[in-house]
Amino acid sequence: MNNQSMRIENVRSDIVGIDTAVPLLDGSKRPYVFLDNAASTPAFKRVLKRIEDFMPWYSGVHRGTGFKSRIATQLYDSAHDVCGRFVGADLDKNIVVFLKNTTECINKLAHRFDFTKDDVVVTTGIEHHSNDLPWRKVAHVVHVGVVNGGHIDLNEMQDILQQFKGRVKLVAVNGASNITGICSPIHDIAELAHGAGARVFVDAAQLVAHRPVNILPDDDPRHIDFLAYSAHKMYAPFGTGVLVGPKNFFAAGEPDTVGGGVAAIVTLDHVEWNPAPHRDEAGSPNVVGGLALAEAICVMNELGMDSVAAHEQHLLEYAMNKLKKISGMVFYGPVDRLDDKVGVITFNMEEMHPGLVGAILGAEGGIGVRNGYFCAQPYAKKLLHVDADKAEDAGCGVVTTDLSTFPGMVRASFGCYSNENDVDAFVEMLEIISRKGYKGTYIQDQDSGAFSAEGFDINYAEYFHPFDSKAESKRQQFSESAWG
Ligand SMILES: Cc1ncc(COP(=O)(O)O)c(C=O)c1O
Repeated sequence: MNNQSMRIENVRSDIVGIDTAVPLLDGSKRPYVFLDNAASTPAFKRVLKRIEDFMPWYSGVHRGTGFKSRIATQLYDSAHDVCGRFVGADLDKNIVVFLKNTTECINKLAHRFDFTKDDVVVTTGIEHHSNDLPWRKVAHVVHVGVVNGGHIDLNEMQDILQQFKGRVKLVAVNGASNITGICSPIHDIAELAHGAGARVFVDAAQLVAHRPVNILPDDDPRHIDFLAYSAHKMYAPFGTGVLVGPKNFFAAGEPDTVGGGVAAIVTLDHVEWNPAPHRDEAGSPNVVGGLALAEAICVMNELGMDSVAAHEQHLLEYAMNKLKKISGMVFYGPVDRLDDKVGVITFNMEEMHPGLVGAILGAEGGIGVRNGYFCAQPYAKKLLHVDADKAEDAGCGVVTTDLSTFPGMVRASFGCYSNENDVDAFVEMLEIISRKGYKGTYIQDQDSGAFSAEGFDINYAEYFHPFDSKAESKRQQFSESAWG
């Protein structure tokens, strides 16, 4: 580590927009409190700088013969290696495919597996839709339940593997839940899967930015065969997703998406595919996105993933100690044993719609959280005891019969740069809400279900101007007539 290395104590200064002030209902402004990192994190300044430095050298990659193309190709290819090594991949045996995000990675894998409808994919009832729906399209999916407040039931998984013996081709689990933050015992699961002759996939979207991850050597029974993650959840929001998996798997079979870049030889009746990973990266690749993610990983490596994990763990404990004391809080996930949980806190407040809690946090606290069901409806409904077919009390005073009024929960989530001041601001606002001390009058939009404060009419264009599509099309007409 050199003197320039980024440390966890000063990483906040490397966050783009950390001081951005936002308007509050009382007319004042305050720096935004960003507690929605599980959805998407802000960018590292180092990432922006690296992109800026690169842009004069920017060129399309791989098939260009010019100097810039060679530089860009070298950078793009080496970014793959950085992203693979970050999760401990042995790059002699594994490859890294760059796609758009975790969702696209899982869809690719689902199609590359050449499943039949008789093949079984074992997943769990606590997955993000992205690690459930793609498998449903191509195989018979069996969902394992949870025990002890959100832990994957490994006994049930073992029973299912036994029940479907010979048919289970893949076990697909999250690395950490996007609702409870609980980390899955991915290596234990890998051992179970391998023992049953199946491979294992880990959806690491909520894990890699928060915990050290090592897929282990390929011949280790606890090795993770496939893993995916998204750059926008780790300080490089420029549209890259990473899929890691065995070279021989991707070298075989047909690419699922075809076109430019994937084929070495094409005649009118014959195609020979490029070697992996090129055969799986159809079209012109996102060079800037790959570079951005690799630079973010360099920063994370400087911080040290153990330091990141320890810092976020401390914040989680600090927050939970305070939040538990607020009356009317209903938590989803562990409140005491926090050591196997990333910094995700999901909750409701008694007798309050989560959308209202979120709106007050935003309008009166300048705090960004998320509310809803976090693209994990089966699990969210289970936690809320909502039966989709029946009207039931969803646990927060709202009776629901359909999804348009399905209230969900509120989620706050930390990043490596979050600090105790962020937590204090959040706790202070929740205390105010709990004692009904908030100032605004909030109205619910009947169509969207979203809440907004009366009189808090923000002209967002004053803060960051959107495109004026009418002006753009006028300009277009002008330039067309000038040339016509
Ligand atoms: C656990 C989990 N898996 C998958 C995804 C999908 O990630 P992306 O939207 O980057 O494809 C998310 C996103 O929130 C997630 O939390």
